[in-house]
Amino acid sequence: MKATAIAPANIAFIKYWGRKDAKLRLPYNPSISMNLSACTTTTTVEFSSDFKKDMVSEGFDEKRIIVHIDRLRKLAGVQLRAKISTKNSFPTSTGIASSASGFAALTVAAAAALGLKLGELELSVLARLGSGSACRSIPDGFVKWEDSYAYSLYPPSYWDLRDILLIIENNVKDVSSSAGHEGAYTSPFFTKRLQEVPKRISRLEAALAKKDFQKLGEVIEEDCLDVHHVMQTQSPPLFYWNEKTRQVIRAIKKSGLPVYFTIDAGPNVHLICEAKDEKQVIDIFGNTYQIIVNKPSRGARLC
Ligand code: DP6
Repeated sequence: MKATAIAPANIAFIKYWGRKDAKLRLPYNPSISMNLSACTTTTTVEFSSDFKKDMVSEGFDEKRIIVHIDRLRKLAGVQLRAKISTKNSFPTSTGIASSASGFAALTVAAAAALGLKLGELELSVLARLGSGSACRSIPDGFVKWEDSYAYSLYPPSYWDLRDILLIIENNVKDVSSSAGHEGAYTSPFFTKRLQEVPKRISRLEAALAKKDFQKLGEVIEEDCLDVHHVMQTQSPPLFYWNEKTRQVIRAIKKSGLPVYFTIDAGPNVHLICEAKDEKQVIDIFGNTYQIIVNKPSRGARLC
């Protein structure tokens, strides 16, 4: 009873921030993301009567992983202990969505190891219970998460975009996004955000449909700034940016290139551009930062 799965992280163009049901990880608003080809988690799950206890690779959140394995064990009616070996292709807990790729890979590997025959929708629902954004790492390419599950809007081949990820800090972040969601509603700007998001979703979907890169980029930046405004005004306030984050934003704006920024719960900057501008965007930063170049990717799958 053993299986291995690989899953991509994803970058949200319209972000998930705040939960109307914390336990079920149901979001207040829909979100839209792109799966990232070069930021992946590979996880092997094995269930065996030889194991006396559950074992999880060092450096990962053992408690949260076991809670998720328990959900799948319950579903399969199995009580065997598990060994979970997992590795990321990128630095963990820096605000790159390691929980998204992690819980997507864990869900697909554990379900297969347990012999559960689940479709994409069910896998997305299950992955969401581990980490909200993980439900978006199950389907392929450009993905929308509405309420309980996520589905693909377009396959990865639809639009040759890049997410040029600048690793500004490799250190573990202070406040996890899980904790951050809890305080979102305390921001006086949260209600306003919820009123704006449906319009932003429509504008982003229209930009995707028309492949209008400028419009897409403008909405991505608008939503990023809005979410960080909420984060910084919630109680207690969360400041994920640092001086280097701001320097990068200034540098890309100064360049005049068609490239747009977005930032999750950490200081690292995702620069979204079209494939034709990839080299010029990378050249702005020379050797200053570690750079991970992502293309749109397939979702989680068995290896
Ligand atoms: C800012 O999915 O990491 O990256 O459900 O608690 O695991 P949990 O939160 P998580 O939150 C991601 C927040 C974000 C925005 C986004 O990816 O949509």
